[in-house]
Amino acid sequence: MSVVDTLDRPLRDLRVSVTDRCNFRCPYCMPKEIYGRKWAFLPRNELLTFEEISRLVRIFVTLGVEKVRLTGGEPLLRQDLEQLVRMLASIEALQDLTLTTNGSLLASRAERLKEAGLKRVTVSLDSLDETTFMAMNDVKFPLAQVLEGIEAATKAGLMPIKINMVVKRGVNNQDIVPMARYFRHSGHIVRFIEYMDVGHTNDWCWEEVVSAQEMIDQIAAHWPLERIASHYPGEVATRYRYGDGGGEIGIIASVTQPFCRGCTRARLAADGQLYTCLFGNRGHDLRRLLRSDCSDADIAAFLKLIWWRRNDRYSELRSAETVAFDKVEMSRIGG
Ligand code: GTP
Ligand code: 5AD
Ligand code: SF4
Ligand code: SF4
Repeated sequence: MSVVDTLDRPLRDLRVSVTDRCNFRCPYCMPKEIYGRKWAFLPRNELLTFEEISRLVRIFVTLGVEKVRLTGGEPLLRQDLEQLVRMLASIEALQDLTLTTNGSLLASRAERLKEAGLKRVTVSLDSLDETTFMAMNDVKFPLAQVLEGIEAATKAGLMPIKINMVVKRGVNNQDIVPMARYFRHSGHIVRFIEYMDVGHTNDWCWEEVVSAQEMIDQIAAHWPLERIASHYPGEVATRYRYGDGGGEIGIIASVTQPFCRGCTRARLAADGQLYTCLFGNRGHDLRRLLRSDCSDADIAAFLKLIWWRRNDRYSELRSAETVAFDKVEMSRIGG
């Protein structure tokens, strides 16, 4: 029972945020001044339970979802996440089960996550320079611990590992080439990401965006790059490989080359609100349905209707006006 939206896009990919908490305070996502001591995070009873999440994922799979990505906040802060991984890994029709993490807790968890059935991980890492890295996580978290996390994930076989670097002009644009250099020949895939106007707490402005073309030019000046074909239609990253066999990189150009045409992603916040776009401002309350006497078929019918009505294409419509819209925060739906 697959379903397409008003722009003929199927539903293939579900991102599940398991917590709105994070131990980092990256200014582009959870600025300290806002997410300080007084910030009210979701209380436990408002979070979907693992049983509720797996029930929903099973229903989503009947509508065409093949891939699930666990996110946060920082997903490894959710207690006993391995148990959820185990529950989701047992869903046969699910082809891909992965996790986006800031890597801070990965060193001690990689092995257990793999054992539970996680297939691979994506680690967010914005700089290899200790001072810049600490300024970007804004809690003085040491770089070495994230690198250890990546190493542990490699050993555990959570491969291929993707490294997400959000590039912000004046903050870490000088680290593009060092990042490319460090991960060449490692088997890991660095994805250089254009800084986006997600949420409204980060004071985003166009001047801080480093375009995909600029990033490619910087890297290609050191190591020639060849464009390669996408793995699947609607892949977020444009893939390139080094001409000298140094491996592969990805460029995520959601600002200068939007990819809404192929967007097959739905996003579930930790409190059960479902968003059909990263830039949405209104979720659909699935927790209420899960905690009512609705059957799986009722919930499936509701989800089908949501997707059938979907017409999101924010990045194609971005303008000075849309940038000021009220939008869901990245820390609630995890990128
Ligand atoms: P793979 O499954 O490994 O191919 O990962 P992915 O391409 O799904 O990428 P990932 O979830 O790591 O996303 C990387 C980054 O791309 C996110 O952190 C966002 O910055 C951006 N991104 C991902 N999905 C979307 C989307 O639907 N819209 C926009 N505008 N940006 C997105
Ligand atoms: N623009 C682009 N990517 C972002 N991320 C968080 N905020 C932004 C933004 N404003 C990325 C993180 C992480 C993923 C969850 O989302 O770096 O890789
Ligand atoms: Fe945490 Fe990731 Fe947001 Fe940074 S970008 S504050 S690591 S959720
Ligand atoms: Fe999908 Fe919205 Fe991103 Fe476009 S802006 S690719 S519709 S999530």
